[in-house]
Formats: sequence, C-alpha cells, structure tokens
Amino acid sequence: MQANVVIIGSGIAALQLAKKLSSDLHVIIITKAEVTTSNSYLAQGGIAVALSEHDDPSKHYEDTLEAGRFHNNHEAVSLMTKEAPELINELLHEGCPFDRDASGHVKLGLEGAHSEKRIIHGGGDATGKTVVDFLHKQIDHITVIENMTVYELLVNEDKCIGVKAKDCNGRSIQVFADHTVIATGGLGQLYSFTSNAETVTGDGLALAYRAGAELADMEFVQFHPTLLYAGGKGAGLVSEAVRGEGARLVTEDGTYIMEGVHPYKDLAPRHVVSQTIYNWLKKGHTVYLDISSIDDFEAHFPTVASICKENGIDVNNGKIPVVPGCHFLMGGIVTDLNGQTTIPQLYAIGEAACTGIHGANRLASNSLLEGLFFGKRLAAFINGSKVKEKKLVRKRTNEKITPSRSMLPDITKLKNSMMERTGIVRSKENLKKQLDFLEGFAIDQWLEADLDYLSVEELNKVFMLISSWLVTKAAITRTESRGGHLRLDYPNEDKAWEQTQIIQHIKGGRV
Ligand code: SIN
Repeated sequence: MQANVVIIGSGIAALQLAKKLSSDLHVIIITKAEVTTSNSYLAQGGIAVALSEHDDPSKHYEDTLEAGRFHNNHEAVSLMTKEAPELINELLHEGCPFDRDASGHVKLGLEGAHSEKRIIHGGGDATGKTVVDFLHKQIDHITVIENMTVYELLVNEDKCIGVKAKDCNGRSIQVFADHTVIATGGLGQLYSFTSNAETVTGDGLALAYRAGAELADMEFVQFHPTLLYAGGKGAGLVSEAVRGEGARLVTEDGTYIMEGVHPYKDLAPRHVVSQTIYNWLKKGHTVYLDISSIDDFEAHFPTVASICKENGIDVNNGKIPVVPGCHFLMGGIVTDLNGQTTIPQLYAIGEAACTGIHGANRLASNSLLEGLFFGKRLAAFINGSKVKEKKLVRKRTNEKITPSRSMLPDITKLKNSMMERTGIVRSKENLKKQLDFLEGFAIDQWLEADLDYLSVEELNKVFMLISSWLVTKAAITRTESRGGHLRLDYPNEDKAWEQTQIIQHIKGGRV
C-alpha cells in the first residue's frame, strides 16, 4: 500500500491532523483497535483555554510552567496558550457541542493548579468523546484501518518510509508513505493502576526508539490522584472536575487530607495530590472523595456516575473510594515545534511526543489542547512540504535476530513491579531492582530483533518491556525530585536539573 501520509493512532491529535491535511494528499490512519478506543475518547476533563474576561493566555502560560516545575519548553507553552482561544473558537464555529450555560456562553470550569476558571467540557464529563466524535465525522474522505498493530517503522537510508502492521490473525501489511506520524499516546498500561485505555502500551515509544529516534523526559510519568478504587483495582477515572466542583479528599474517619499540604488544597498540582493520597494509603487508610456538597452529581458527571454504578458504588452515599494511577507521560519522542522527530520524515504528536510543553508535570486539561495544537501545526508543515522519494524496503544488514518467546515478561508481574518500583515514589534501590528485572528479558536482543514472527499479543509485550526499561533508566539517572518524578533519596528539586533533559537513543544516551 502507498500513501502520502500514514498516521499511527486515532486520538485527538491524529484526527485533528487528518482533518487539517490537504484533501489532495492520500492519508491512511492505522489504529490498533477502533477509532473510539483511544485515551482521548475516554478523556473526561476538558480543554484548557483562556476565554473568560478575567483570564489571559499569559496566566495559562504561567500555570503551565508552575505545574511543569519550570522544566517546560517556554516557547512551546507560549505558542500553545496563545493559540488556544483560536483553536477552540474554530471548533465552536464549526458546531462542536461544548457545554454552555443558560445564557448560551461556553461554561468554564476549574481544575487543579489553574488560577482561573478556564476548562471547557462537552457532555458534562465526556469531553474527549464529544471532540473525537465531532472530528471523526469530518474525516470521511480518509482511509481508516482498524484493528491493526503497527510493529515496525520502515527506515531506509536514515529516512522513515512507512510501517509494517499486523492484525490479530497474523495478517501483515506494509504501508509506504512520504510522511509517517506516530500518534499512539503514552504508556499507562505499563502500570497496574491506570486510567488509560487497554491499547495504550507504549507502542509508539518503542517503535521510535528501535528505529533510532531520540526520546526524552521518560522519567516524568503523571499519576492521576483519583481513579475509582473498586475490586482491588483502579476502575476508571474520577475527573478532577469533581474536585473543581467542591469534592474533598478524606479518610474513612473524615480526616481532610489536603489541609496544610498546598495552598490550592484538593486542587493542588496532580503530583502533590497523588503523593499525599499514596502516603495515606501506605499507612493503611482508605481515601475517599467526599462528594456530598455537589448537588445532582449524576447530572453533572454522568460518566463518573455510570463508572461508579458499574462497579457497585452508589454515589448517593456521598463518598467515592479513590486510588492514584498512571495517567499521562510528559516525555516521549523528541520533536521540534512542527512535530518532526530526529529521523527525517518521521513525526510524533500528542502524548507520544516530547515537545517540552508539559515539563515535569502536565497541567490538567492541557492534553486535548496539545493534540489540537500540534495536529494543526504538523498538518501545516506537511501541506507545505514537497517530498518525492523513491520507496525502498529497508534491508537489514544484520543477520536475523529472533529471541525466544520465553524472553518476554508476564504482564501482571511487569505492571505490578512498575507500580511498586518505578511508580509514584521511587528510590535508587527499587529502580536498580527494576532495571535488573527488565534487563533479565534480553532487552538488547528485543531492540534489534526482527519482529515478524510474533503475534500481536507478543508484540505488545515487547513494546511494554522496552518502554518500561526507558522509563526506569531515565528515573535512575535523574537524581532530584521534580513534578511527576519523586525520589525518596533525592527529595528536593535541584536547580541544575531544571532545564536538563535525559535524552535516550539506541546508540547511547545523553543528558
Ligand atoms: C480529569 O478529568 O481529571 C483528567 C483531565 C486531564 O487529564 O487533563
């Protein structure tokens, strides 16, 4: 198969890109499950945008840097926060059904670490679904291949020229393209507690690393403070907007846990709230969201209410048990401000990319915004570029390496060990243990292996193993605590690390 642009993934960044690409380009989207199986589709909390008369993009910029603990790329943050009102007005103008108040104005809510009300929603707490459905309707002209896992980037003479993909029956395809875009999201499924979709297993990160692209900031993993805790696991997200409407975090005996921890209390940055909940859970307590002050909870938060109902929690009791879980990767594949990676003709957008927007911790509701922003920017870049390359299949010079399937980890063990040792709270001792555990699975061979012989399930394990290893290696290297990265043995921020990135590359790393 041949295309001008192949996009891997179908979240908001992918769909925005597809919508904005020139209609004379042949575009193919390949997605691992269905278009509606992405993290974007699950997103409850909304899109941050300085629309109110009290607000200004410069305040949104400041809040983004503060949450990111000043590790952000300031230029990227400035561009995105300034363009946010235009991106949202464009969607409003096209008829995207964001929530409005009785007088018809777009409703603006509050979320953690925002100094102003600036979060817009769709369907109450179904913002991702609202926007994905809206964009999906606008890309009828684009070929979408569902239920295909991309397992290799085709690289020829140091350029990316397309992908290999496989379905669960083992049928493979190759797509050759002038432009290959990774929009596969992050890596939530590496952890036993996560808000992420089943499909989010670090694929794009492992694909890019194996192909020789640079990755950065992989140690910065955000844990959302409030997943519903039911049946011994994280059973779905309880949006931060619930705390924005007044819910408070309490223990079983009603002790209010955010008192005296941060001036924003329950709406402190996510790493602060997650780490506080984690400490109470470790001491043997149960932590709840007290929602008793919110009138008509089900009408406000239909998605949360239905997740609670499915898991046997009655929201009318006024308390939802919660646990923190992996939510978002701030790092990823290094790109410039157009989405170009360090491999020509390979791009990354959305959560898979590391543009520096989020720094060490993402501000609530900046992720859908990032997808809209970089999807549009990359489209403008590709629309204006002229690539006419002869397509050649990558020829492997090395002998085929086909490691034994027994060198793949058990997924439950992998997830539990990541949660325990490379999770919310880290130490050199635990990280070292985890690195040894992961390296026991012949990582060197999986980095070089020819993956054609593996099933989709086995490919997922390879991606999860490589991504876990990249996060753990970076976490051991950063000897400070900042944002989503908390080291017990280095509990403070160190100014020398503020703007320093840990860059990883198959031929070695650099700081
Ligand atoms: C939430 O609704 O709490 C999640 C929103 C986000 O991740 O920004």
